[in-house]
Amino acid sequence: MLRQVLVAGGIAIATALTGGEAAWAQDTVKIGLVQSMTGPLAAVGRQVVSAAKLYMQQHGDTVAGKKIQLILRDDTTVPDVAKRLAQELIVNEKVHILGVGITPVAMAIAPLATEAKIPEVVMVSGTSVVTERSPYIVRTSFTLGQQCAIMGDWAAKNGHKKVVIIQSDWAPGHEATATFTKAFTAGGGQILETLKVPLANPDFAPFLQRAKDLNPDTLFVFVPAGGQAGTFAKQFVERGLDKAGIKLIGPGDVTDDDDMPTMSDAMLGVVTAGFYSASHNSPKNKEYVAAFKKAYGFRPNFISLGGYDGMHLIYEALKKTGGNTNGDALLAAMKGMKWESPRGPIQIDPETRDIIQNIYIRRVERVDGELYNQEFATFEAVKDPGKIKN
Ligand code: PHB
Repeated sequence: MLRQVLVAGGIAIATALTGGEAAWAQDTVKIGLVQSMTGPLAAVGRQVVSAAKLYMQQHGDTVAGKKIQLILRDDTTVPDVAKRLAQELIVNEKVHILGVGITPVAMAIAPLATEAKIPEVVMVSGTSVVTERSPYIVRTSFTLGQQCAIMGDWAAKNGHKKVVIIQSDWAPGHEATATFTKAFTAGGGQILETLKVPLANPDFAPFLQRAKDLNPDTLFVFVPAGGQAGTFAKQFVERGLDKAGIKLIGPGDVTDDDDMPTMSDAMLGVVTAGFYSASHNSPKNKEYVAAFKKAYGFRPNFISLGGYDGMHLIYEALKKTGGNTNGDALLAAMKGMKWESPRGPIQIDPETRDIIQNIYIRRVERVDGELYNQEFATFEAVKDPGKIKN
């Protein structure tokens, strides 16, 4: 008798809990973030997640009457781990939206987003083809092509003639090299050699020595965020390339705001084409940088914007759907969305689901005692060149 009551009671409790959970789940929008919090690109995860959390602190955790729940998973910078984590988030946690990071991770998760029919907001990857891997992908980060094609054209028009390329040897690096080379050679420039450096724990010294021996006027460099720009800058000086008068150019990654405070004056004058500088002169950015520094004690870099704007995209899409979490409804709401980001005006291309944004030419200068990328020319509403049919 007692046993029967206990069992009956147990069932009653279990039913009540399931019912309660179901009601709660309907009122909650679950966002699964799969980001690289440890491993060689841990500093990338730190920036993007810090910014996503800051957005929620600033805008509250209720949108269109629904509670927003962020569930963070560390992919350890390994795509297979990312895939397993995303699968668990979809099947067990029943997330409505995924927010993902670096290129190999975004690629690994793409088929899962397609199958589950849920948006995959790409907050870090800069490789063109990623958005084509699933109709449920929307990108809030950037592409290397957006920046490097403009850098190549600018370099050819501004006296750079003989270039050696040093690139990190993985997809975004290959894209940086290809898009820069195409634009630079079309403008009459010459590439002397392209040197490929391993992604993990790179030692740039032998590559810098080889580059110096080739006697170029300019070095074009792509290294990913996550501390590599700081290491590169140090070895550039140690190998005497600054003293040899070799100019340094690249996409914004090589003068990463995360690493700028540790760089020496040897970096003064370095010109890059980038979509975000912590010194971007707008009220929106001043507010963003101040809030970010206050919350975390370090500068936001270009990686952070993908997380901040990714959350904005999700919040605004939910407002448009009136809290409907259906994947197709959210995708329709996201396509064509425009807003002012701390980086400047941005929009989601309704055709390609890729980001359209300004690219700025910047020069490293000392401002109030610290090094910053000071913007001096703007190319407006730049699309990923990989999507432009010609
Ligand atoms: C990428 O995952 O494509 C990526 C990551 C960090 C960068 C650039 C590209 O700095």
